[in-house]
Amino acid sequence: MNDLRFFSGTGNPELAQKIADHLGIPVGEMLVRRFLDGEFYVQVNQSVRGDDVFLLQSAAAPVNEHLMELLIMIDSCKRASARRVNVVMPYYFYARQDRKVRPREPVSAKLVANLLTVAGASRILTVDVHSGQIMGFFDIPADHLYAGPIIADYLLKNIPLDDAVVVSPDVGGVARARALAEFLGTPLAIIAKRRPAPNKTEVIEVIGEVKGRSAIIIDDLIDTGGSVIGGANALLERGAKEVYAACTHPVFSGDAARKLVESPIKKIITTDTIPIPPEKRDSKIVIVSVAGLLAEAIKRIHNEGSVSELFSQHWNSQS
Ligand code: R5P
Repeated sequence: MNDLRFFSGTGNPELAQKIADHLGIPVGEMLVRRFLDGEFYVQVNQSVRGDDVFLLQSAAAPVNEHLMELLIMIDSCKRASARRVNVVMPYYFYARQDRKVRPREPVSAKLVANLLTVAGASRILTVDVHSGQIMGFFDIPADHLYAGPIIADYLLKNIPLDDAVVVSPDVGGVARARALAEFLGTPLAIIAKRRPAPNKTEVIEVIGEVKGRSAIIIDDLIDTGGSVIGGANALLERGAKEVYAACTHPVFSGDAARKLVESPIKKIITTDTIPIPPEKRDSKIVIVSVAGLLAEAIKRIHNEGSVSELFSQHWNSQS
């Protein structure tokens, strides 16, 4: 593909290879090394002068390392006279710190937007960002993709949906859950939860009819697993027949994967925006790929085509 160059940081090499395969081009050669004190050294091993460069990096752990690596990659490409530096960030760094809730808190998601822009990013492409307002933190073009249709496709093919109900694990996720429910033609229920402390959740109430139904909890991410496991228990206590959980970003911090596998959740459907290390994988955790979606969006951006046309109205109206 004429002057399209695709490079990857070290955050998600498996996804990078899949995207490159879809694009039909190799992952570009970029040397990423460390100095003894931990500082990164990046060198683009081929000319990108005048090229439309796409850099893939996802906020996988260790998050701060991957963020710094990305910023230096952007700088290298910019200084090598790339025409555009498009950052492909399937899972956005610091997305949950998107507003000030208490005094003297940072808005780290905005800081990330500033850092990317100052480093030289021309455009951002991300998937299911925690809150839509983050896209407005950028004064450069920012494209937003939805993994909903890919997750829905798995559900349609593998889960009996006749008596299903889609459940939002919190009030903030209602638009996402409603899009999935409307697409699948199921009713919607909402869990009202509160966070007594960061990474802790408590279910207060379930709004909607779940008794005798297969409940599908849909979230943007699963981190500790507290929200979906707490939600699943609350749904089962209220008579749900079985519970599935789906999310776009499998953060799976600490022993979350084990907790999910041991929980009453029947299956966890997630994507490869973040790599799941082999020791955290299990037959109960299904991974569907966003590689084809990202590759298609990259092609469209490169060819100045529409990205929103990739999605039907269900998904485009969820923010
Ligand atoms: C919260 O607003 C998010 O959408 C997720 O529900 C939350 O971050 C998941 O975290 P955990 O798995 O630790 O409950």
